[in-house]
Amino acid sequence: MMNHVKIADALLREIAQRLAESAGIDPDSLEASRIAWVVERRRRHLLLPNPEVYVDYLKAAAEELEHLIDALVIQETRFFRDHAVFEQIKAWAQQAALVQKQPLRILSAPCSTGQEPYSVAAVLRLAGLSDFTIDAFDISHGALAIAQRGVYPAGALSHVPADLQRTCGHWKDSHWHVIDDLLARVRFEQRNLALSGALGDKPGYDLVLCRNLFIYLHASARAVLAESLSQALRPDGRLIIGTGDRVAEINARFVPIEPAAGFAFTHKVCLKSNHQVRVASVPVPAQIRRRTDTAAPTAVVGIPQQADEFYRRAVEYSQCGNLRQAERRCRQALYLAPNYMPALELLDALWQKHPSARLRRALQARIRRIQTAAPDAIFREREMA
Ligand SMILES: C[S@@+](CC[C@H](N)C(=O)[O-])C[C@H]1O[C@@H](n2cnc3c(N)ncnc32)[C@H](O)[C@@H]1O
Repeated sequence: MMNHVKIADALLREIAQRLAESAGIDPDSLEASRIAWVVERRRRHLLLPNPEVYVDYLKAAAEELEHLIDALVIQETRFFRDHAVFEQIKAWAQQAALVQKQPLRILSAPCSTGQEPYSVAAVLRLAGLSDFTIDAFDISHGALAIAQRGVYPAGALSHVPADLQRTCGHWKDSHWHVIDDLLARVRFEQRNLALSGALGDKPGYDLVLCRNLFIYLHASARAVLAESLSQALRPDGRLIIGTGDRVAEINARFVPIEPAAGFAFTHKVCLKSNHQVRVASVPVPAQIRRRTDTAAPTAVVGIPQQADEFYRRAVEYSQCGNLRQAERRCRQALYLAPNYMPALELLDALWQKHPSARLRRALQARIRRIQTAAPDAIFREREMA
């Protein structure tokens, strides 16, 4: 619970400016009350007399900036976040397994506390791939320490089916421990993605996940990151972004891949040459197929068709950047079907920058409650009679 802490506006602006310069964080994405609370916590920890002295200390001590970044960046993540994404990765991996000549290289950046790269590793193993490595980068030392340990609280996998749980981890001392095979596949490293060259010189990744970071960055950091991704992805590679990450800097370098156009991209130049052949044969997950196909509609178990229709419209609006309409349709879907997980997840993504932290927290708590109550609900679908 954050207590109200008052810090002079000029100091808050100075701190936000330091974060913008060092980590590319857009000052508009930071809440003043959160900065004030974190600064107060750090000030007390360091036994400094007042916020002014803390800011002087911050300017002088490089390691304090790291503590502050750790404490202020949004590290929200979860295993198999956005199930449509992992359906697509599985389909991509199954195809890749057939033609693979050399080990596949995958990047998860930012990886936060590790759930994303471990989820990718589990999906690739399930798809029959054994020859792959995953690099996982994040700016936060604290998040990376958790990721490297690979031990997660009891509820971390409660929303996924039991077979997927067992592919990811084993249960010990009331926690999930990521299985050794997955631990060995993922290499974690601290990298600041707002710096140019952060992903190295043409590392040649086949698959890159860069989800839920663009929304927090200012324009020049977004341009740097988009350029790094463009350098890092192989010519025929695939980039996966978060729902709210479809920014102009991405559009300038990448094109969406149907049918997962809301989150899957490839190089612009690649689409003009051989992309149609490569991506057309990837199986389409039901959630997305329903948008364009004339085949009989499918529906999530127990979800009214009208709610499903609103959700589909929300996806379409979010894909073409009309976030206000996307949010409206999501709310309409949730009015009719309050537990409809794809709509909740889309709303969660659309609200990443919502000014009300209270609303965001309430939505995330609601998602967790539903996931705990109905572990495999988000993966269940059936054909409508
Ligand atoms: C919301 S999490 C996203 C994690 C994961 N990709 C997902 O979608 O579940 C955002 C992450 O970005 C990281 N981050 C913020 N600024 C960064 C930067 N400049 N370089 C690298 N990572 C950064 C944060 O530490 C945090 O772990």
